[in-house]
Order: sequence, then structure tokens, then C-alpha cells
Amino acid sequence: MITRRAANAGLISSAFASAAPAFAVQEKERELPPPRMQGGKPLMEALKLRRSTREYADKPLPDQVLSDLLWSAFGVNRPSGDRTAPYWRHIMVIDVYAAMANGVWLYDPKRHALLPHLPADIRAQTGTQDFVGGAPLNLVYVAHGERMKDVSEADRRLYASVDTGFIGQNVYLFCASEGLASVFRGAVDYAKLNRAMQLGPEQFVTFAQTVGYPRG
Ligand SMILES: Cc1cc2nc3c(=O)[nH]c(=O)nc-3n(C[C@H](O)[C@H](O)[C@H](O)COP(=O)(O)O)c2cc1C
Repeated sequence: MITRRAANAGLISSAFASAAPAFAVQEKERELPPPRMQGGKPLMEALKLRRSTREYADKPLPDQVLSDLLWSAFGVNRPSGDRTAPYWRHIMVIDVYAAMANGVWLYDPKRHALLPHLPADIRAQTGTQDFVGGAPLNLVYVAHGERMKDVSEADRRLYASVDTGFIGQNVYLFCASEGLASVFRGAVDYAKLNRAMQLGPEQFVTFAQTVGYPRG
């Protein structure tokens, strides 16, 4: 069930509404502070620092960091509503979910808010590697197959994966700039994660990406 406020405002697409699982009505969307959209390390320095990390400190991400991270990933960066990452045919295929200790949230780029999706900690189910369950955040990239009807199944996977890759690199570069750790992941039990995420029939997980503070 979607939150009443969001539903009344008509802000959640019917595709999302039909896929949205039970979440207590009293569960509120989580507003994020405005993203900073400035500062950080120069691009060349961030590129120099970009890497995959697989050891995470048990430390949550502050709201401002979460806000900046999600905006960098796939936030709105122009009045047109377009995003920090390019996307196939100008069709919004990918949703970014945040799996954290306090549940799974859907990032709504237009409102720059987190919408409640599942009141469960499914971090450990977002991948087959041990560190995923202990990291504070696992991004789960989910494609809307029903928005890609006129291309083959193979092309759906292809374009959804490319869209996801751009988002993933934004996340890597933001993390490099902020001293955060990240790893983009395909080592996922997709059938299990699709089930755990309670997705709509045509939705599918493309990849996941862990984010947190480096251990030590
Ligand atoms: C499509 C893709 C899938 C990946 N899947 C995993 C994964 O499941 N687990 C993992 O630890 N790293 C994964 N990686 C990260 C790569 O192993 C890593 O980028 C590569 O070893 C180079 O290391 P670097 O990112 O530190 O430069 C993946 C990277 C890509 C692009």
C-alpha cells in the first residue's frame, strides 16, 4: 500500500502503485535534505580515487550524505526533469531502491524523497557476498520491463543494464569524492532478490551496489 499522502497527490506512477507492497499507512515518506550539488573533489581527483571496496564499517550514512548520494546517482539536475545519468530513449526504466537497516525505500527523484517500500531489513539478500548484510546501504537497481515492450527480452536487459551502469558510475565517483566505499555488484541471487523486493511481474533487478564507510 502506498502512503495516503503520496497517493492523494498522484505522485506515484500507476506502475509503481501496482507493484508497491504492504507498508503500514502510518509509515511516512522520508524527506531528504536538499542535495548540495556543489563542492566535492575535482573530477580528475575523484577518478583517480575510484575503486571497488568490499570491507565496510558498521556506521550509518548521515541524511545529508544519503541525499547527496542519491541525487548524484540519478537525481534531477535540470528544469526538464532529466537526470544526472543518461537513460535509454528518454524512457524512465530504472528505479533506485535503498535497502537499509530500517527497510527498503524507493528514491523519488522528482521530490527528492524516499518512499517506503518494505518495512524489512533485506540487506543480506541483496547479494551473495558476506559484507552486503553489514554495510549500511545497498542500492538495488530495478528495471520496469513493461516500459520496454517493443524490444526483445535481450534488449531490455541490455538497455536496462547500460542505464544502470551510468548510475553506478555516478555512485562510484560520488563515493570517491566523499571518502565513501562502494562496489557495484552482479553477484546477486536474482530470483531470491526479486522475490524479497516484492516487485511487479515485469520488474526485475539489474544490479546492486553497496555503499558505506570503509572499514579501518
Ligand atoms: C557489471 C559488473 C558487475 C560486478 N559485480 C561484482 C560483484 O558481484 N561483486 C564484487 O565484489 N564486485 C563486482 N564488480 C566490481 C568489479 O569486480 C571491479 O570493478 C573490478 O574488479 C575492478 O576493480 P575496481 O572497481 O576497484 O577498479 C562488478 C563490476 C561490474 C562492472
